Amino acid sequence: MNDLDSPDITRGDTLGIFAQTALAVDMFDAAREMTANVAIPFPRDAFRDVILCGMGGSGIAGDLLVNAYWQRLRKPTRAFRGYMLPAWAGESTLVVASSYSGSTEETLTCMMDAVDRTCPVMAITTGSKLRDHYVPQNIPVFDVPPSPMPRAALVQMLTTLALSLDRLGVIELHPGELEDARDTLEAAIDRYGPQRPESENPAKQIARKIQGTIPLIWGGEMTSSIAYRWKCQINENANLPSFWADIPEHNHNEIVGIEGHGRADLRASVVMLRDPRQHRQVERRFEALTKLIDGRIAPVIDVVASGQGTLGRIFDLVLLGDYVSLYLAVLDDVDPGPIEMIDRLKATLAEGLYGRLAIGR
Ligand code: F6R
Repeated sequence: MNDLDSPDITRGDTLGIFAQTALAVDMFDAAREMTANVAIPFPRDAFRDVILCGMGGSGIAGDLLVNAYWQRLRKPTRAFRGYMLPAWAGESTLVVASSYSGSTEETLTCMMDAVDRTCPVMAITTGSKLRDHYVPQNIPVFDVPPSPMPRAALVQMLTTLALSLDRLGVIELHPGELEDARDTLEAAIDRYGPQRPESENPAKQIARKIQGTIPLIWGGEMTSSIAYRWKCQINENANLPSFWADIPEHNHNEIVGIEGHGRADLRASVVMLRDPRQHRQVERRFEALTKLIDGRIAPVIDVVASGQGTLGRIFDLVLLGDYVSLYLAVLDDVDPGPIEMIDRLKATLAEGLYGRLAIGR
């Protein structure tokens, strides 16, 4: 469908990803209320460091949190993807397992490993395997509001993670930060949602500009994980290849590859995700990059986060990227919901005993 202002724009969205995205404020409110009501049976000083485990659409909440709050983290905290916790994880490491479905084998394996090592643990999920197994063991399980797909549950997963870590003193949310986040979500849905015509909708305009290209999404500091989120959403919602990079690291390697863009017969585009609070040198790097790549890649799109607080600014750019990926799907007549390749891979792996044994042990 070429008309992004058509009232039928969501017709091909069989799982309701557009509708779920528009529920962001409700998801935020519900996650706030739920998180406040879960008892955490260990004190703030029960751990020295934190590992946030999760994969894909659930794992990204950990990256966003660590990248955005790294200067406000009170304890060493890292996001982790994979099966095995690092050797240093022990009884003074808080392990947070985030799995929307509650059945992702990497995350479940980490959770079991953490329990074996007597780490304090918590789970963020909707899924019965994580919930049913750990609630009876007096392990806090944050049961997030449902969504048609894990990646469309980011608002509630991230809100829950931020609020639970705030309760535990790992981060300290600023006064007014939650209200600003809520207002920013509301404004983002209004600015980027399907009801807003293309002539005044930045998400529709960006999708139109990058359609038919391989989008390279560049971020730095807080926006680096948001760049990764954009890439994943373009992959999963629009079924398209996309790549991301982190500034300044990108400036030490990937930048040179831009020279071969034409030679490799690629048609890439660049989206730069900026944040008004970025380090001055990161800002300067974005500006210098814009000049350097001029004439080599087009279009180059510059986006700056709106919102006052950290959480709000994350939500603004995340929602913009989510909508860009959905409009890309519309333009290519792709159903944004199904993720056939992931499902097929998970089914193949489940044929072995690993996944079932992992939780049943
Ligand atoms: C699906 C999605 C995936 C999943 C990932 C892990 O929408 O985004 O990346 O998030 O396969 O599954 P969960 O989140 O259920 O642990």
